[in-house]
Amino acid sequence: MNRLRLYLLPLWLLAVPAHALTGDPVRGEKLHAKCLDCHGTGLYAPGKRKIVSLKALRKDVKRWGTYYAPALTDQEVEDITAWLNEKFYKF
Ligand code: HEC
Repeated sequence: MNRLRLYLLPLWLLAVPAHALTGDPVRGEKLHAKCLDCHGTGLYAPGKRKIVSLKALRKDVKRWGTYYAPALTDQEVEDITAWLNEKFYKF
């Protein structure tokens, strides 16, 4: 049994992506304030939105994040994505 566990441990580590970050929606809402320079939250509404998956949402937040100097960090992208998903997209 102990030997079996030793073999399983490395597999388990491989299953967890190294870049897995957890978004904080509270921080995301604050960070999103600067995005309001260009648009309100109206374009996230059902019927208006074009984003169709969580993956695409994260990609778009990252795309807009590069508009700023310095660009948003991966953690900030994750935070804003978490907030947008919780409040509007609900994927
Ligand atoms: C320079 C102006 C500008 C800034 C700054 C900006 N956006 Fe946008 N954003 C747009 C425009 C214009 C669109 C619609 C056209 C498009 O998708 O290219 C858009 C679309 C989006 C969409 C797609 C909505 C959908 O479902 O169709 C998301 C998500 C988004 N923006 C997030 C953000 C976030 C998050 C920030 C802040 C980090 C941000 N934007 C900052 C101009 C901006």
